[in-house]
Amino acid sequence: MAIEQRKTLPHSLIVQRQLVLYLADGALCSGQWLGEQLGISRTAVAKHLEQLQRHGLDLYKIKGKGYRLAQPVQLLDAAQIKAQQQQSAPVWVQSVTDSTNSQLMQKLKEGVALEKGAVLVAEAQTAGRGRRGKQWFSPFGCNLYFSMYWQLEQGIQAAMGLSLVVGLAVAKVLQQQWQLPVRLKWPNDLYIEHKKLGGILVELAGQTHAQCDVVIGLGLNIRMPDQTGTMVDQPWADLTSALGTPIDRNLLVALLQHQLVQELRQFSQHGFAGYVQDFNRLDQFSGEQVTLSSGNQSTTGFCAGVDAQGGLVLEINGQKQSFYGGELSLRKAL
Ligand code: BTN
Repeated sequence: MAIEQRKTLPHSLIVQRQLVLYLADGALCSGQWLGEQLGISRTAVAKHLEQLQRHGLDLYKIKGKGYRLAQPVQLLDAAQIKAQQQQSAPVWVQSVTDSTNSQLMQKLKEGVALEKGAVLVAEAQTAGRGRRGKQWFSPFGCNLYFSMYWQLEQGIQAAMGLSLVVGLAVAKVLQQQWQLPVRLKWPNDLYIEHKKLGGILVELAGQTHAQCDVVIGLGLNIRMPDQTGTMVDQPWADLTSALGTPIDRNLLVALLQHQLVQELRQFSQHGFAGYVQDFNRLDQFSGEQVTLSSGNQSTTGFCAGVDAQGGLVLEINGQKQSFYGGELSLRKAL
């Protein structure tokens, strides 16, 4: 197996996971009772819960009474994911990590052979990364931080189409399983009702002439805690509010792995051309006037979909022009 699974987790992570499990249904539990269940003191309970709060767990401390989660929590569970998995590639679950993308990139750097479709998910990230060097807020136990290993046989130039196919695969899962009206913003964002639901960060690792290793990172808002929500610098949506009910995060992980593997196999064999119509149907900005920025240059035009390589097509003064490249950013023209 590529990533060595720790048979013995650090004691503090086991205790913290157990504490969250006792609190998971949102009921009030006293520090005394929690301590008794785990054979630790009330002070130790308080310390562990403070640490989880620092990782973004939305927890209330009610003076003289105990602790209660702001919302019920469903923890990621490797066994539950496995029971619903339709792929043989592994899914690893971590509690708190720096960044699931960084973890897989590190494994590749160390020369670890990863299986295509292998997935790493975490409850919280302490250094979650978004595109263009931005931070990705990753509070504990509520959203999804998901990274998958893939290999591009067609080499680095296929990466543009790949990130769009990833967005399409995620949108398909959310539409088919939960009937959610997800839209896509070129090149890497998922939207619901003009608000950002999630983002994709594709990172390329070692490459030979023909092929390169890819880590596909997906951050999806499932239930954004109030406090984190106020720190995000753009309008956001989350799945729980969009649906009005919680979703099964373990099922979501298994479905995402399956759909991504299916679509990426198809993309590897046939390229992006077959996805053009699908993308254009879901394009959040179709026909709208947008500004595309790269460094200190910007171009304004009307969104006219994507081309067969996955480049963005803008209509500028009646002429269609395609744009490619990893660092372009798109926003509605003012
Ligand atoms: C963006 O919209 O800027 C992309 C965000 C990607 C975030 C995910 S969360 C899982 C993976 N690990 C990271 O550090 N980043 C990606």
